[in-house]
Amino acid sequence: MDLKYATLYDHPELVDQTLEIIENSFAYTSNFSFKTDFYPLMSEKNWPNNLIAIERKNNQVIGHLGFLKRSLHINGKNFPIGMIGGIAVSSSFRKSGIAGTLLSRCIELNTSDVGLFLLWSNLSDYYRKWDFTENGKVFVTQAGNNPTSPDQLGFLKISPDERSAYTPQLSLLYNTHINNHFISLVRDEESWDDLLCITSSDLFVHRSLSGQVDGYFFKGKGFDLQDIIHEYVLPKSIPLESFCNLGEIWHASIEGLALLPHKTLFMAMLRPGSQNLFKQLSQQITPGNFPATTDAQIAALFNSSTPWFISGLDSI
Ligand SMILES: CC(C)(COP(=O)(O)OP(=O)(O)OC[C@H]1O[C@@H](n2cnc3c(N)ncnc32)[C@H](O)[C@@H]1OP(=O)(O)O)[C@@H](O)C(=O)NCCC(=O)NCCS
Repeated sequence: MDLKYATLYDHPELVDQTLEIIENSFAYTSNFSFKTDFYPLMSEKNWPNNLIAIERKNNQVIGHLGFLKRSLHINGKNFPIGMIGGIAVSSSFRKSGIAGTLLSRCIELNTSDVGLFLLWSNLSDYYRKWDFTENGKVFVTQAGNNPTSPDQLGFLKISPDERSAYTPQLSLLYNTHINNHFISLVRDEESWDDLLCITSSDLFVHRSLSGQVDGYFFKGKGFDLQDIIHEYVLPKSIPLESFCNLGEIWHASIEGLALLPHKTLFMAMLRPGSQNLFKQLSQQITPGNFPATTDAQIAALFNSSTPWFISGLDSI
């Protein structure tokens, strides 16, 4: 097989074909769009990071892997990390090392720029071959005993055209309640603009009696997170137990919620990037503790007193 490896930036004419392969590989139905659900990964400005494998004879895309650089906020400092997603190989070309080659290329191209690579998958044995370690589960609770609706709790759904007006308030709540309490992704104005382009995710906001936005949540994210609430900041007036009655919810931790039926949605898999950046990042999490082996180093990242939370919206 005569293959060429390139990027969507080199071949913008192959974007639609690439999306078709991804959507077929993930069994998307026609009412969903990977491009919308993963807007930051697939937007034109990220095309230099969308690696593709092309079969030369028919100039046909047969594989894709997307990389998105973000920053991880850890106890007041930011560190560059790389998120990987949209890994897909056309079914008739599988098991000949194409995904492996795309992954190796991605790691080689970006290692020096990031402290960690992160991807979400249930194929842990496969990614172990590239030194990814399974870490961090995503828990989803089922609805509590008293099903309720967002408007009963005082939340209002905001239409996609209106949401950019809310960026300053959302950003403030996110920084205060998520960045300051969890190891989580940094969101500057540009990231917020990109994330709000994920129009397959519904935004609901809550206002205090004085009219200030004091809480919000995002529900659904197209095909992947249908009907699941995957990021929330609650106003003081709404206890978590009442909020849990809204339906399926992705939480940072199951602590205090274990009585509700819950399931693990998927695993986060991590791999170190540059040794130096990885060490700096690790030491910010667990000062003075830098175990000898990579697996132990990665495991130590989760023994910190600061919990992790990477929301569904940020899951590339
Ligand atoms: C997962 C997926 C991307 C793998 O693509 P791929 O190109 O077939 O991957 P590779 O060829 O690199 O590796 C697949 C297997 O083939 C084996 N393989 C690799 N090169 C090979 C070769 N030359 N000859 C025979 N087998 C080979 C690998 O060892 C691997 O085996 P394993 O499953 O036991 O680990 C592809 O199956 C896919 O698109 N699946 C649907 C979408 C999906 O699940 N994406 C991943 C989400 S995180």
